[in-house]
Amino acid sequence: MHSVRRGLGGFTHAVLVAIPIVIAVAVGCSSADDGDAASDTTDTTAVQDVVVDASDFKPLAEMTRVRGFFVDNVAGDLDATLAVADDREGGTYPVGTVIQLIPQEAMVKRAAGFDPDSNDWEFFTLDVTAAGTTIVSRGGSEVVNRFNGTSCAGCHGAAEPQFDFVCEHDHGCEPLPVGDDVITAIQNSDPRS
Ligand code: HEC
Repeated sequence: MHSVRRGLGGFTHAVLVAIPIVIAVAVGCSSADDGDAASDTTDTTAVQDVVVDASDFKPLAEMTRVRGFFVDNVAGDLDATLAVADDREGGTYPVGTVIQLIPQEAMVKRAAGFDPDSNDWEFFTLDVTAAGTTIVSRGGSEVVNRFNGTSCAGCHGAAEPQFDFVCEHDHGCEPLPVGDDVITAIQNSDPRS
């Protein structure tokens, strides 16, 4: 079996390098198992970064609710996002994950290296009206809450490490100064819905 594959190795590799790069990334280049694959194993870590614009943000009602918050994945892998969100042991969210508690704030997972001080989350403050979404501010650990100037990462970084900056009620963050009833009311008054 192995000798047959080795015999076809040169041909297989020639075909592989002709495949468009997007497919190569999707399969992780791992199929070049043709006897000279040792150098190919380093190609599997490339993860496509995502840079969202305002139109990528949806009304909360069109996102997927997980307990008290809402998730989406602009890279198209919602299942990978839900696998982490649904795991009560925590985990690292995949690139492209969008998480929102209220319509006016969001965090989006960027590729490794975006900002180690924000665990590679990009934080957003948003203006939402019936006409749609406008980005007010965006960035890594420097972004602050526009209501009282408190750092998003300052609070979210207090979450226990396995929860990847997601606070909820019991991950170690300082609680929000408003109750669940207020959060629910804000969630239900998304003007884009
Ligand atoms: C005072 C601390 C604090 C600040 C500042 C803060 N957050 Fe949060 N955030 C929390 C807490 C606590 C929760 C969980 C609330 C809940 O589950 O009801 C939360 C929830 C969230 C969630 C839902 C996921 C989660 O972590 O539970 C998102 C998304 C979010 N905040 C984004 C932001 C963004 C963006 C900013 C800055 C613009 C920000 N937050 C500023 C404390 C904070």
